[in-house]
Amino acid sequence: MRMNFDQAPARRGTDSVKWDCLEAEFNLQPGDDILPLWVADMDFFCAPELLDAVCSAFSPGAIGYRTLNPHFYTAIADWMQTRHGLAVSPESILPSPGVVAGISAAIAAFTAAGDGIIVQPPIYPPFVHVTCNMGRVVRENKLIEHNDAGTLRYEIDFDDLRRLAADPCTKMMILCSPHNPTGRLYTYDELAEIYRICSENDVYLVSDEIHSDIMLGGAKFTPALLAAEGGKRILQLGSPSKSFNAAGTHSAYMIVPDAEERAQIRRFWDTLHMPTASFMSTEVITAAYGPAAYYADELCVYLTENMTFLRKYLREHIPEIRLTDPDSTYLLWADFRGCGIPSDEIFRRLCDVARVVPDPGEWFSPDYLGYMRINVAMPRAMLAEAAERIVRAIKNK
Ligand SMILES: Cc1ncc(COP(=O)(O)O)c(C=O)c1O
Repeated sequence: MRMNFDQAPARRGTDSVKWDCLEAEFNLQPGDDILPLWVADMDFFCAPELLDAVCSAFSPGAIGYRTLNPHFYTAIADWMQTRHGLAVSPESILPSPGVVAGISAAIAAFTAAGDGIIVQPPIYPPFVHVTCNMGRVVRENKLIEHNDAGTLRYEIDFDDLRRLAADPCTKMMILCSPHNPTGRLYTYDELAEIYRICSENDVYLVSDEIHSDIMLGGAKFTPALLAAEGGKRILQLGSPSKSFNAAGTHSAYMIVPDAEERAQIRRFWDTLHMPTASFMSTEVITAAYGPAAYYADELCVYLTENMTFLRKYLREHIPEIRLTDPDSTYLLWADFRGCGIPSDEIFRRLCDVARVVPDPGEWFSPDYLGYMRINVAMPRAMLAEAAERIVRAIKNK
């Protein structure tokens, strides 16, 4: 391994959302002992090649307006081909200041106020927030939960999806693929079926693939555009922000194969009169998808071990907790409701007694009170400390 993921950068006191907004967000007694397990960024150092590339953006000694270098587009196209087997033309790529911002741009370009937008709860909360904030209506296609001897599995309710898509008010579906928080990977056949249902009903499919480079246990990702086989009314969003720990650089992109649809999105971005790529986006993309690519491979190995460790530890010590066995993401989704503590007290107990802070399940849907999303992207020793504290706080009730 070239990277040492056993070391964590010191982020407390650096205006980090994950480390420095905890006390205010969760009304916690301040202290250096708190371990954040929320916010999907990682307590690992970035690849040195990525940091060097970012610094090189400043080497002229001036920080004026910049344009994107053509390498921004070719690096993404090459990555899609080599990593995911998806042929993408550089012209089909649009920069975006974030994946969620790109979703908002798609909502603005292809829907109107009052239109319905399908999401699949439990779901990454901003899908719901941006939909509501833009005056659109959330249509819930809830994932069906199965319990296989304590392991949580989630399936798509295709009958319900067909029903929702057939409603003439429904104009868009925002797919989270891989799915956050369940870590579920969708197969080619599932993606093809989702796309078929959407296109038959003229529902625009937006596929958020921000976690697609984080595969656990050798799992294999399928991009939605591959399953759509060249069809229209679909776009894909990506970014190296999760897999290369670069969320703060605002370097994301949209892949929109249809030229007219791209023009519609550009018209929306034009209304903002602001750059859709950050100052350093060319450097971030070309380094991540170039000389730093090994980082994603090494990361997947380390995260697989972290996930295995935490699942095993929690199952051994609190068998009442039901856990996902994610194929992707560094997020473990856990149902604590069987632990003998009232569902609405579990989160506080973890915060105040264990002094660890996961994301509370109800953020992902009100149905999931008593569930937690646990971020495992940290050095193993830190994760072991968090695991011990969780067990102590839950068992000594
Ligand atoms: C599914 C998903 N989409 C988007 C984002 C955020 O992306 P961005 O910061 O580029 O808006 C996250 C962050 O956790 C995420 O999990």
